[in-house]
Amino acid sequence: MNTTKILALGVAAAIAVSSGSAMAKGKGEKLFNKKCGTCHTMEAGKHKVGPSLAGVMGRKAGSTDFGKYKALAGADFTWDEDNISKWIEDPKKFIGKPTAMTVKVKKEKEREEIIEYLKGE
Ligand code: HEC
Repeated sequence: MNTTKILALGVAAAIAVSSGSAMAKGKGEKLFNKKCGTCHTMEAGKHKVGPSLAGVMGRKAGSTDFGKYKALAGADFTWDEDNISKWIEDPKKFIGKPTAMTVKVKKEKEREEIIEYLKGE
C-alpha cells in the first residue's frame, strides 16, 4: 500500500467516526421532538406543559421557575443520566406520585439517545 492510499483510508475512517456521532445526536433530537417536544423545549426559561430542559443535567429536580411542578415540587435530588433514564422510563413509578408527565420511553436505546441529546445542549 502506498502512502496516498493509507492517507485516504485514514481520512475515510475519520469521516466515518465523526458522521457516526453526528447521526446519533440527530436521532436523539428527533426522538426528543417526537416524544418530549409537545411538553418541553431546550430553550432556557421557555416552559410548556412541562419545564424547560435547558441545562437539566446536573440541575436540582423541580428547581426552575416553571411553577407547575406536582411530583417534583420540593424534590431533593439532582438529575443525572441514571435517574433521568428511570424517570423517562416510567415517571410515576420513579417518583411514586401522580404527575402530568405521562410519557414512557420503554426502549433503553431510545432513552440513551434522548439523554445524549439532553447533555449536548
Ligand atoms: C405530556 C407532557 C410531557 C411529556 C410528553 C414529557 N414531559 Fe417531561 N415533564 C412534564 C411535566 C408536567 C413535568 C413536571 C413534573 C412534575 O413535577 O409533576 C416534567 C418534568 C420533566 C423533567 C424534570 C425537569 C425538572 O426541572 O426537574 C425531565 C428531566 C423531563 N420532564 C424529561 C422529559 C423527557 C426527556 C421527555 C421525552 C421522553 C418528556 N419529559 C416528556 C411533562 C411532559
